[in-house]
Amino acid sequence: MRVAVLNGVNLDMIDRRDPELYGGISLNQLETRIYQWALELELIADCRQTNMEGLFVAWCHDALDWAGGVVVNPGAWTHYSYAIRDALEILDVPVVEVHLSNIEEREEWRRRSVLSDVVSERVIGKGPEGYRDALVYLSERQR
Ligand code: DQA
Repeated sequence: MRVAVLNGVNLDMIDRRDPELYGGISLNQLETRIYQWALELELIADCRQTNMEGLFVAWCHDALDWAGGVVVNPGAWTHYSYAIRDALEILDVPVVEVHLSNIEEREEWRRRSVLSDVVSERVIGKGPEGYRDALVYLSERQR
């Protein structure tokens, strides 16, 4: 099964952000781990990152044509982008929302996700390993 792994705004800078929150690894290192975990689970991952909201929405639309599951970490868009929420709602495959940090124990404005009720599963505050949990969820859902 092919899985779209879509990282959003500022996820390209995780190695320059607070390592306590974001794990201290680069996006490149994170994606390398995701590709490895996917292989172990017999999934084919396609990892992408953008700081452009419209492109992120276009990738959600694009996933309709080929993905059997989708993993998203939209960064700060999580908290206010109804455009991304609407795009995810169109998908007819399982979608997992991932956050490296525990957004439920941070600032008040981060506790709200406008996506939470259109996704199938949420993995929050588990660091990079959270992406592995998301892939495991998708691989189990396909059986
Ligand atoms: C994040 C949490 C968001 O609140 C933040 O804006 C991010 C990353 C996370 O993975 O913990 O950029 O999505």
